[in-house]
Order: sequence, then structure tokens, then C-alpha cells
Amino acid sequence: MTPRKPMIAGNWKLHNTIAQSKELARAIAAHVGQGLACDVVVAPVATSLSAVREAIDGTAVGLSAQNTYWEDSGAFTGELSPLLLLDAGCGYCIVGHSERRQYFGETDAGVRKKVAALLVHKVVPIVCIGESLEQREAGKTLDVVLGQIEAATDGLDAVALAPLVVAYEPIWAIGTGRTAKAEDAQEVHQAIRERLGELKGQSWATSVRILYGGSVKPSNADELLAEPDVDGALVGGASLSAKDFIPIIDAGVRRAES
Ligand code: PGA
Repeated sequence: MTPRKPMIAGNWKLHNTIAQSKELARAIAAHVGQGLACDVVVAPVATSLSAVREAIDGTAVGLSAQNTYWEDSGAFTGELSPLLLLDAGCGYCIVGHSERRQYFGETDAGVRKKVAALLVHKVVPIVCIGESLEQREAGKTLDVVLGQIEAATDGLDAVALAPLVVAYEPIWAIGTGRTAKAEDAQEVHQAIRERLGELKGQSWATSVRILYGGSVKPSNADELLAEPDVDGALVGGASLSAKDFIPIIDAGVRRAES
């Protein structure tokens, strides 16, 4: 029995109208009901948060935003804040996704500020870290990934960080159909947990959930989730249809029960 409750999270990215989001959320909520042995979270676009909140109401499905700013309010046109995400019913927020780092200038320092602001408001950060193909080929994977997690949690202790979720997403595996080999994912997950143990203490590091992301689908979910330090999945493409996402949730349940 794994010491950590698995989590399967769907990152819908920039997809789905309100009507489409509602339909997908309803199908997932019907499967999850009052709760499963694994946590299930969905991250719709901001315009669909309210509709998805209604669709999952009364079920155990968690609601996540895809990004936040770190200030509560003010003259920050176009931004959302942890305070407002909480108001919209979000229990979670993805932070530092590689697409935000790559296309929108997200930095390690910004990720750190967002993590801290979310924790103040008791919104669980799902912090994404991961190396590019060039970095992997240059043998720099662990340097990059461990540097990112160290920066994201800098100055925050285990008490403050308690609910944090980490998602290891190799950039070369995102949306490409190329998945990391299960043993390669395990090696990185284990290294992340070890580093968090050195930095923040062993007992928190043992409890922190580290999800894998990057072309997770029904056909590879069980293999990835069989690894001891792979506590769940952050799923992009395959989270956009209930037909694919539900079997991945079921793989999370199998991990919980194994
Ligand atoms: P993917 O995306 O499953 O489509 O590869 C994962 C992610 O970016 O979170």
C-alpha cells in the first residue's frame, strides 16, 4: 500500500467552451462520485471554472486553475489571484507549467512567489518542473529539475509547504506522444523526493505527492504508476475526453490499492 494517496489531474489547457467543459466535468463527476481511492482534479480554462464548479458540486472532484498571479488584488490587468481562485471554488492551482515558462516568461522567482501566495490562501499549488530535450541530452536533467524545485520552495518550510503537489513533466514528452520510460521517470521522482528531504525534512518529503506528466494515456498509465515514487499523473491531451481520462483515473485507483 502506497503511503501517499494517488492523484490524477487533468490539465485542459486552452480547450473547451463552457458547454464542453460542463459536459466533460459531468462525466468525470459521475465516475468519481463521493470519492475514490485516488484524488481527481480538473483544471479548466478560467472562463469555465464556475460552470465546472457547478457540474462537480457534491462530488469529490477537485477544481484547479491553470495559473495565478501572486498579489490578492490591484492594478494588474488580465491577472487572477489566489484570493479570487478560492472565491471561484478552486482548491488547486497549476504553477510553472512549461508552456507558461516557455511562452509567457514565467521564471523560477515568479513560480516561488505564486507558490507562497497560494499557500497563504490554502489553495494547493501543483508545481510543474521538467527539462528540455537539449538539457536531457546534455545530461543535465537532475540539475535542471532539482534546481527548479529548490527555487520554487525556497524559504518555505515543511509546515507551510505541507499540501504542495509536484508534477515532473519532461518538456520533450508533453503533447508529443513520447513518454518517459517508467524507470527514467522513477529515477527523477526519487531524486526530487530525496532533495526535498534534504531541504525540508524527511517526513514531509515522504508525504509529498509527485505526479508524472507528458503523454500519459490509458495504455501507459499503469506502467508509470507502478513505480514507487510516481504518485499520480498530470494529464493534458488524454484528459480532454472522459473515454481516455476515466481509465487513467482507474489506474490511479489500482495504484492506491496495490
Ligand atoms: P500531455 O500534457 O498529456 O498532452 O502531454 C501534459 C501537460 O502538459 O500537463
